[in-house]
Amino acid sequence: MDHYFTNNNIKSNIKIINSIINEKQYDFFVDNGVFSKNNVDYGTKLLLENIKEIDGKILDVGCGYGVIGIYLKMNYNCTVDMIDINKRAIHLSRKNIDKYKLNDITVFESDAYINVTNKYDYIITNPPIRAGKEKVLEILIGAKEFLNENGKLYFVIRKDQGAKSITEHLKAYYNLNILTKSKGFWIICAEN
Ligand SMILES: C[S@@+](CC[C@H](N)C(=O)[O-])C[C@H]1O[C@@H](n2cnc3c(N)ncnc32)[C@H](O)[C@@H]1O
Repeated sequence: MDHYFTNNNIKSNIKIINSIINEKQYDFFVDNGVFSKNNVDYGTKLLLENIKEIDGKILDVGCGYGVIGIYLKMNYNCTVDMIDINKRAIHLSRKNIDKYKLNDITVFESDAYINVTNKYDYIITNPPIRAGKEKVLEILIGAKEFLNENGKLYFVIRKDQGAKSITEHLKAYYNLNILTKSKGFWIICAEN
């Protein structure tokens, strides 16, 4: 069965969507076969609206068409790398980066951290729940290894997609701070 995150052969139909994030409008190229192709996900927006103090190196894990990394690059003093397993998502992220002339963002294909070699001050993700709890935990727990000493992992997770059990699990690895809960989405900051 194909999921949005596999490198499938669904017919391409690139279009542009508009989205307001923190009162500013952004346009993104989207396509069939990528997550949230009709509008920027509510959880992603909520995540971005609750990140307040970025200054440093960011890794956007499971970048999709690039909304997290692009928004942060445009609003903070930061360098951004983005990864995704989906080739179409990578192509769209590159198109969106070009559109905004943010040419110093690096995007590359990676299954979780398999191709990641750097360390980061922030790892930020709306994780691929549909890839299964094991993959989500691999991404969230695995972040530890790729964070600098005082680094932070920010993520969004839905209550009805296992927020409680995943946060319980993560308590063994991080100090967790639930920044907000809205419409069943939890925004969490995890620190070493
Ligand atoms: C919930 S979507 C979030 C997309 C984007 N960051 C956003 O907020 O709109 C999760 C993303 O993770 C990607 N993904 C799925 N499995 C992955 C894996 N094993 N490694 C890296 N990325 C993965 C999917 O292709 C998808 O783009």
